[in-house]
Amino acid sequence: MDERIITKEQLEEDANLETGIRPGSLEEYIGQTEVKDNLDIFMKAAKMRDESLDHVLLYGPPGLGKTTLAYIIAHEMEGNIKTASGPSIEKSGDLAALLSSLEPGDILFIDEIHRIPRFIEEILYPAMEDYVLDIMVGNDASTRNIRIDLPPFTLVGATTRAGDLTSPLRDRFGIVSKLNYYTVEDLTKIAKRTATVLECEIDAEAAKELATRSRGTPRIVNRLLKRVRDFALVLGSGKIDLEITRIALNKLKVDRLGLDNTDYNLLKSIIDRFGGGPVGIEAIASSIGEEQTTIEDVYEPYLLQTGLLKRTSRGRMVTRKAYAHLGIPCPDKID
Ligand code: ADE
Repeated sequence: MDERIITKEQLEEDANLETGIRPGSLEEYIGQTEVKDNLDIFMKAAKMRDESLDHVLLYGPPGLGKTTLAYIIAHEMEGNIKTASGPSIEKSGDLAALLSSLEPGDILFIDEIHRIPRFIEEILYPAMEDYVLDIMVGNDASTRNIRIDLPPFTLVGATTRAGDLTSPLRDRFGIVSKLNYYTVEDLTKIAKRTATVLECEIDAEAAKELATRSRGTPRIVNRLLKRVRDFALVLGSGKIDLEITRIALNKLKVDRLGLDNTDYNLLKSIIDRFGGGPVGIEAIASSIGEEQTTIEDVYEPYLLQTGLLKRTSRGRMVTRKAYAHLGIPCPDKID
């Protein structure tokens, strides 16, 4: 199987890479200016009032820095961070244990928060609203509810699918921020910053080329940078220039727009098997052997953003731009 550059998950290698190169403060964080500026105000105000920050929901495609921002919030608010992910919370006891371990001012970061089962999620409502934990104790014959006070804390929830959150949960976040794909300019800055942290030399043109082909995503620019660095070391002088960047990205099958094999298969299958669409997401998923959620969360948002794919009420359609990008003659009916 091909090595994948585009994934939904953070890989172990990313985690190692990201802990080393992750910006530690809001000041070091590049891009997402609106989100950053607003968070800065909310955090300053909370500190001036000597309160914990209101709960924060961060949403947007994978790899845009939701986890990084959660760590930055903890740093800026001078609190400790405890982390969990939706799928790891399987029993109400898991969540109760997490909540009861919190200290005043702690940040509780829950990634993929939309995947917490509904009956467990309900424990979060009073915890978020009133800082209390309601739990049932005892056996079948004699159960009773007990209420435990929790210290003031901040829940930072992250999700790729804000639409999958139940409204009672969504409504309990005082701060809701959407992360958008990064501009090429910001990704270029990130590539240069990461290269400095990794102590490798990169020239301006190479950084821009990497940025252009990283589909608006810092996690991808950092992954590609590491791979290009390998090519530069083995095939070149160690310095990352435009030529070695292009050679490496072509070998990695990352095209000029940052599309990989899966993107190609997806667009080509809509064209070859479904006449360019409209076609339902289930049919696309089974035709290319990918999970529907992976297509929806990882591939489709970028294809929509770049205008290669269109969503209509009757299904997905490829656009004229997609035909041109793939070098396939475009039928007249497509616009
Ligand atoms: N590394 C990954 N994301 C980053 C960002 N937004 N700013 C700076 N460095 C990063």
